[in-house]
Amino acid sequence: MEVEVAVIPAAGRGTRMRPATRALPKAMLPIVDRPAIQWVVEEAARAGAREIFVIVDPGVGVLIERHFNSQEEGPLAGLEHVNVHPIVQDVPRGLGDAVRTAATAVGNQPFFTLLVDNLVFPDGDVLPGMAAAAEAGSVVCLRELGTEFLARYGFIVPGEWRSEQVVEVLGAIEKPGVEAAPSKLGLIGRYLFTGKIFEALDHVEPGVGGEIQLTDAIHTVGEAGNCLGYVAADDLLDSGTPSGYLEASTILGAAHPDFGARYRAFVTEFTEGL
Ligand code: G1P
Repeated sequence: MEVEVAVIPAAGRGTRMRPATRALPKAMLPIVDRPAIQWVVEEAARAGAREIFVIVDPGVGVLIERHFNSQEEGPLAGLEHVNVHPIVQDVPRGLGDAVRTAATAVGNQPFFTLLVDNLVFPDGDVLPGMAAAAEAGSVVCLRELGTEFLARYGFIVPGEWRSEQVVEVLGAIEKPGVEAAPSKLGLIGRYLFTGKIFEALDHVEPGVGGEIQLTDAIHTVGEAGNCLGYVAADDLLDSGTPSGYLEASTILGAAHPDFGARYRAFVTEFTEGL
């Protein structure tokens, strides 16, 4: 499936990253040499996205415009052919509601959704594999996760395996906890949706935390036989917590083409001294 659109939910208060996020939006926190949001915009662009909608809190759109569309500074390297458009979510009602905010802009085209808290490892892109696995419906990216994630992530109800990496998704549960976990296959922040997800989101009632959950809409499309799961070969980085943020900075810094070698030497020397 060819996918030229991406929706990146970047609203939300970033409470796990206080005090850094008291004034700054989480998506604008730098990781190595660019804000977190740029890492995911670049990832979407590598997979063919040309129109990218970033869902932001009121007041943050101006930062996204200034960063990606600055007349003065010109286009960012590698993103010359990408259009980044902020869309404001007036009231934070959850991840599902954030994605729904892009419904009119996206229309009936298939689109990627990328969560800024989850970054791919260098050379760990998953979107092209998801697009290749897609048939007529949606594809969600999965990893087998440990029990510590059961109360933090969404998990799917697996059906038949189509191949070693592709499984039918019959449903999904947000933060099920150990008791209600339908599998160990967790939703790790990368999705390929068709317009059907918007119809599903229109009917989703507030779920976990009183929020409109994206996972509940995935449940609806899964039940209707319109969803596949793609098991990623690698984990994704979880940069939405202080310790995960440090790890992401180290891994992405060590792989940086300009100063990665120097940083790797520093880390080696530093850890030897511990
Ligand atoms: C969100 C999704 C959850 C997913 C997770 C991945 O949770 O609701 O299904 O597994 O991202 O990071 P949140 O981090 O917003 O609690």
